[in-house]
Amino acid sequence: MYYPEELVEEIRMKNDIVDVISGYVRLQRKGGSYFGLCPFHNEKSPSFSVSGAKQMYYCFGCGAGGNVFTFLMNYEHYTFAESVKALAERAGVALPEIEYSDEMKKRESRRQRLLEVNKEAAKYFYYALRQKEGEQGYRYLTGRSLSDETIHKFGLGYASKYSDDLTKYLKSKGYDETLIRDAGLCSIDEKHGAHDKFWNRVMFPIQDANHRVIGFGGRVMGDGTPKYLNSPETQVFDKSRNLYGLNFARTARADNMILCEGYMDVIAMHQAGFHQAVASLGTAFTSGQASLIKRYVKDVILSYDSDGAGVKAALRAIGILKEAGLSGRVLNLEPYKDPDEFIKNLGAEKFQERIDAAENSFFFELRILQRDYNLKDPDQKTRFHQEIAKKLCTFEQEVERENYIEAVAERYHIGFDSLRELVRSYALRTGMAKEVIRPKSGIQKKNTPEEGAKKAQRLLLNWLSEEPKLYPKIEKYISPEDFTDELYQKVAQKLFEEIKAGSVDPAGIIGLFEEEEEQREVAALFHAKLESLEDRKEREKAFHDILVSVKTYSYQYYADRLGSDMSALKQMIDGKKALEELKNTHISFE
Ligand code: CTP
Ligand code: MN
Repeated sequence: MYYPEELVEEIRMKNDIVDVISGYVRLQRKGGSYFGLCPFHNEKSPSFSVSGAKQMYYCFGCGAGGNVFTFLMNYEHYTFAESVKALAERAGVALPEIEYSDEMKKRESRRQRLLEVNKEAAKYFYYALRQKEGEQGYRYLTGRSLSDETIHKFGLGYASKYSDDLTKYLKSKGYDETLIRDAGLCSIDEKHGAHDKFWNRVMFPIQDANHRVIGFGGRVMGDGTPKYLNSPETQVFDKSRNLYGLNFARTARADNMILCEGYMDVIAMHQAGFHQAVASLGTAFTSGQASLIKRYVKDVILSYDSDGAGVKAALRAIGILKEAGLSGRVLNLEPYKDPDEFIKNLGAEKFQERIDAAENSFFFELRILQRDYNLKDPDQKTRFHQEIAKKLCTFEQEVERENYIEAVAERYHIGFDSLRELVRSYALRTGMAKEVIRPKSGIQKKNTPEEGAKKAQRLLLNWLSEEPKLYPKIEKYISPEDFTDELYQKVAQKLFEEIKAGSVDPAGIIGLFEEEEEQREVAALFHAKLESLEDRKEREKAFHDILVSVKTYSYQYYADRLGSDMSALKQMIDGKKALEELKNTHISFE
């Protein structure tokens, strides 16, 4: 849904960021800002700052930052449209109705009906579990150590021994047979009419991230087959884009998610306090599910069975995670087969220990690979090392690749240089990676001229946003082009426009940027620490110094680009003139 820009702005203005964030974080006033414990990383002393004047937040510890929309997107994991909606509601701003075509209306109402019938079925199963007829189901679940609270939380239920009573019930509620069939809850047979898909099973409703029931899994209460029966895919149930338990895991506030195979595993982990557990839906893990996870965390802990099929599934999942840009670790639950059994036998504390000890997925892959080689045989050992080198080439980033080469060399007792040479020759042969050059130590990003220039540019922009009245005094010396960083240049452009128009609004400037990474950077920019100098003369000098360094770098920057950039010459000539004048000018704050 696309909302007009003015409306988005209105909603933002009507939701004071200090008020909104105070609903989530305890804030204390300190100078012109508010400080609290950052909700985006663990910390003991507050480095999370919220500025009422700028309508922004920024964490000096982890770099999280943005405006009120960004905050909700990060904290509640809302999409942009969802956070606009939530804040519109909060401020009592009416949003325009979405205009649907007839076709869309029909589809949408069909979706709604399917969700309704699923919800009704879930309620029916839930109720049945608590009746006399459901006693067997209830005993089965409690026999598997589930508490009443857990059974309630996951909405577990019972499908009775009769093979048509759900359908009968739903029909009595006014749902027609075709809808019930399309929801995957019954099948229709010409001779015998409709009969339920699930009967004589304990029922696990499957919910989407917003707690809506989209399908079911049903388990036999004992050893029958099939052990689990699942709803087929429907218009509302896409198995490749949902995860069991995600509706709870998304707000778990852990920095990882635990991915496993079974419904019972998810439930057992949640019951033991591991609210970040999710499972795929009786099908293999997909890239759609990986991107779903990526909305919430970057680190995934895999907990698959340790048998052959489980290992194969884990290796596949690792590949999918890597492709999605997620990091994976593998849980070892020996001697138990799955999280449910492990927790039942050894408890939550030991489980946490295993999480902490989870193996880096690359080493897991190597360990599995190693099984195919007899390392006592020099030939096989060499081939194993070659395979390792080949795998190491898949790290595109040089630093990462180097770090892995180092770690692998140590672990497998291979000489660092010879492994590196092996990787290098393999990479050259296949063109898979650039030549490996070890980064020279000692040169840190922070000390480069670019970083120094960026810092001066940040300070100047932030200073001007706080004291816009200084802008007219320096307007003739400075232009957006002096901010050589592309993002800063955009900010400068907008900021100068706003100053000229008489209303500065840093939080609105954030809205110009779509990528979260950019929004953070803008927030960081507007939180650049200005020295708190009391003396006016000192302040004037500091300001002048910053201005001169921005101009000096800008002049250098364009001088370096003379041959390649047409506008560079003008920038350079103007810049040189301005710089000389500036050096001999006193800019007074009075
Ligand atoms: N599964 C399935 N159909 C089956 C068996 C399994 O859809 N016939 C799916 C289910 O989603 C199940 C998962 O695969 O949760 C893992 O299966 P399995 O390891 O066999 O079962 P557990 O989860 O350990 O279930 P339980 O502890 O109840 O035996
Ligand atoms: Mn199990």
